[in-house]
Amino acid sequence: MRPAAVHPAGVTVRVPAKINLELVVGPRREDGYHDLATVFHAVSLFDDVRISRAEVWSVAVSGPYADVVPVDDTNLAVRAAQLLAGEVGIQEALHIEIAKEIPVAAGLAGGSADAGACLVACDALWELGGDRGLLHEIAAAVGSDVNFALAGGTAIGSGRGERVAPVLGRGRYHWVLATSDEGLPTPAVFAECDRLRGDATIHPPRPSPAMMAALRSADPAALGQAMHNDLQPAALSLRPELADVLDAGLEYGALGGIVSGSGPTIAFLVAGPEGALDLAVALTASGAARKVTRATGPAHGAHVVATGG
Ligand code: C5P
Repeated sequence: MRPAAVHPAGVTVRVPAKINLELVVGPRREDGYHDLATVFHAVSLFDDVRISRAEVWSVAVSGPYADVVPVDDTNLAVRAAQLLAGEVGIQEALHIEIAKEIPVAAGLAGGSADAGACLVACDALWELGGDRGLLHEIAAAVGSDVNFALAGGTAIGSGRGERVAPVLGRGRYHWVLATSDEGLPTPAVFAECDRLRGDATIHPPRPSPAMMAALRSADPAALGQAMHNDLQPAALSLRPELADVLDAGLEYGALGGIVSGSGPTIAFLVAGPEGALDLAVALTASGAARKVTRATGPAHGAHVVATGG
């Protein structure tokens, strides 16, 4: 056994939010999930998750969304850490501190991001050797978006979203994210999607050739045109006022605008940093959006930023 001093006392992992550049929703499966073909894209809006050894499990959340994040073992970061501990036979508890900048229930996979970050942090703290296969296995058991939080970048998601394959592209994109005060629960949005579809025949989902071509060309105008989300009608049905935000962003010059995931965040693509600033100012001044954030993508997946005391 190595002396205790070489073990890190704490590990901090940074993890990005995601948007979906494309989200094609297949039929509802027997297990209640939907098969998806999606293009995940990690953007520079981050949570930092710090873990340290403790006598009992506990969670502390700081930042603008601190009061709406559960601190019991329904927190996805705790679930992920406890599943991993069980899998590798570790008995000790953790104190988990989440510095939360990613809005909650926003379609940005913030909870999944924290789970992914916690897995990477546990791997470092417990010195598990960076077994990506193991981390991905636990990630898939925690939620459909956790695997992408590990991967980052731009990636095609299939299955219920948990199978991710990187998309090689050279594009860097500039985004303006318009978030609402009140989140939308993902299950409600999928249920509304099913309701709106009624008896229509739904084909197995596939990424569109237009999206793949846009990513290959790294042309923001083409990407803006190709963006699509099958959950958007459901999100707009539950939150009709989002249509005004979308209209406003497009009117103020965005190359494209889309509800991210199950919403209610709307992601606007712009040509560059000046366009992002102009659009952010215009959206804020118009009062169309409650909170406006600029971001770039792709961003790296969950990664260690500090170890030690
Ligand atoms: O996997 P996750 O916990 O993120 O999913 C939350 C909910 O979103 C699921 O319980 C399900 O209602 C819905 N969902 C779905 N199909 C997916 C992913 C999520 O219906 N592919």
